[in-house]
Amino acid sequence: MIRLFVNVDHVATLREARKTVEPDPLKAARLAEQAGADGITVHLREDRRHIQDQDVHRIQQGIRTPLNLEMAAVEEMVQLAINVKPYQVSLVPEKRQEITTEGGLDVISKKQSLGQIRQRLAPFHIRFSLFVDPDLEQLDAAKEIGADSIEINTGLYTELTDPEQVERELKKIQAAARHAKGLGLRVFAGHGLNNENVVSIAAIPEIEELNIGHNLVARSVYCGMEQAVRDMIRCIEKGVAQRTVSA
Ligand code: PXP
Repeated sequence: MIRLFVNVDHVATLREARKTVEPDPLKAARLAEQAGADGITVHLREDRRHIQDQDVHRIQQGIRTPLNLEMAAVEEMVQLAINVKPYQVSLVPEKRQEITTEGGLDVISKKQSLGQIRQRLAPFHIRFSLFVDPDLEQLDAAKEIGADSIEINTGLYTELTDPEQVERELKKIQAAARHAKGLGLRVFAGHGLNNENVVSIAAIPEIEELNIGHNLVARSVYCGMEQAVRDMIRCIEKGVAQRTVSA
């Protein structure tokens, strides 16, 4: 079975719209856990547009599953990760003007600085993951700097509408997953996933972990976080079942 990490950033987005105390991302995280989530993900952005520093500490202390901390590769965030000691750090590129993470990290051109961050987190036994596009050379670079895992960016796959283009992008993700696993990296995926498009991703045999946020928070407005997570788990199971059939 694939581990589902639920990203609760957009619970905080709603709270920050009024700068009030509700909805509480920790409460949402606990509901997600009750419904079967295997972990919780938060992205502390440099502009603090949703998750705040205090949320990271409260969530780390208040959940019973592992915390995956998404962050930019900058000194401020490295210090915070060393203080919080999450189960895992996932490095992502971050631009101030973007609505959400756009594209994967350019690991090739930042090998030295990313490798240094890896070295600084290692003594604290924090797992180290890199968010990358399905590009084989980026995966080779991730392996070279000692990443434990890579998260394949499924963003483009989820945005395309032309079936041929979707199929082509899916094939790229499948090839990237195979390549990463062959390098000894653990393979995760995420971005833009929903109850429909998750099935083909969950069917990729190398994928162990998914990070899903926006769709779950959106659906929780209609049916509650627990139901949204349960429905997503069912869709993931559908994909995993396809895996066994074709294996
Ligand atoms: N993975 C990474 C690296 C992300 O930046 C995000 C968005 O915060 C996600 C997964 C989850 O994407 P979505 O909110 O579209 O499910």
